[in-house]
Amino acid sequence: MIKRLWAKLSGSIAPKPASMEEGNVPTHVAIIMDGNGRWAKKRGLPRMAGHHSGMKTVKRITIAADRLGIKYLTMYAFSTENWKRPKAEVDFLMKLPQQFLEIELDELIANNVQVRMMGSRDNLPSHTIHALEEAVSKTAGNTGLVLNFALNYGSRIEMLDAIKHIALDVKNGKLDAEDIDEDVMSSRLLTCDIPDPDLLIRTSGELRLSNFMLWQLAYSEFWFTDVYWPEFTEKHFHEAIETYQRRARRYGGL
Ligand code: FPP
Repeated sequence: MIKRLWAKLSGSIAPKPASMEEGNVPTHVAIIMDGNGRWAKKRGLPRMAGHHSGMKTVKRITIAADRLGIKYLTMYAFSTENWKRPKAEVDFLMKLPQQFLEIELDELIANNVQVRMMGSRDNLPSHTIHALEEAVSKTAGNTGLVLNFALNYGSRIEMLDAIKHIALDVKNGKLDAEDIDEDVMSSRLLTCDIPDPDLLIRTSGELRLSNFMLWQLAYSEFWFTDVYWPEFTEKHFHEAIETYQRRARRYGGL
């Protein structure tokens, strides 16, 4: 498909470095986008300005990932724990998907991107659900990059829900307890039809998972940077991918 509408911003995005290995690009990259608040504070701006700027980084990195041929990009946009933030900030964060999609949906469609949402709909405002559902349905047939927003997502709840479903199936005689294995568990998670991330990126210098994809990240490579999410660029992204390419993944073997 002809990459049309992204052309303008694409031109300002650094090309992939010649040193990057062809054929060894991660299939699935997951990102914990952290540091919006500190980025804003450093500049004397309100936290919301950091989130707004972070939204622009989402677009930049989506284009960069698409250009590299990455198949799945999962972005942690709001965790089940983020409800603890002040209401004004939560309300602002809940408007971001809608704002982002109002501006970008046509370009996402034109560029064959498939939008998905991973998380619980409980407590999400209807405008957030509506914007995401529209994007998901309008891009469902697209075959390019899968842009998966983790929104109102928490890994422990995801796993507990999976375990409850498995337990019910055992109780109802649909499943033998002896047959519960990793594939059964994986098939009950929100990621049942996408591969586990090959690479996890977290920005802002924090070194933790914050309840993000705990099952799926079991064998992923981790890459951390002190850079705050709003100042994270495709150059940092390329650096993460190249570091990934230099690592030997042994999955517990030799
Ligand atoms: C963590 O930074 C960031 C978030 C909780 C929100 C992330 C959301 C975006 C980057 C925008 C999402 C865009 C779309 C299109 C859904 P923080 O606020 O915890 O930063 P801090 O640790 O410096 O305070």
